[in-house]
Amino acid sequence: MIHIRVEDRDGSVQTVEIPEDINLSLMEVLKASEYNILATCGGMALCATCHVEILSNGGNLHEPSDEELDMLDTLPDADTNSRLACQIRLDENLDGLHVKIKGSLQS
Ligand code: FES
Repeated sequence: MIHIRVEDRDGSVQTVEIPEDINLSLMEVLKASEYNILATCGGMALCATCHVEILSNGGNLHEPSDEELDMLDTLPDADTNSRLACQIRLDENLDGLHVKIKGSLQS
């Protein structure tokens, strides 16, 4: 199992467990786990409503693409730990990842 620790906008923290072979993005898993994420663009790195902050254990994340960085640049509250959850493909190397949901609830 892959365990992702998720801090919601209200500060509540839960661990989401997902099978290793699920082959979904973090955005898809968060939505399936009832987190309130608009994901207006459907995962195309075009809306930034899936913005998350990596709090810890992000060492195995792949580098963000230029498209992802360009979109993060448009966010006033993004910093060097910011990522778009739709661009993070989950695999066993990300077990223990700790993220905070920051995406806007308005697109
Ligand atoms: S879902 Fe739109 S940028 Fe991630």
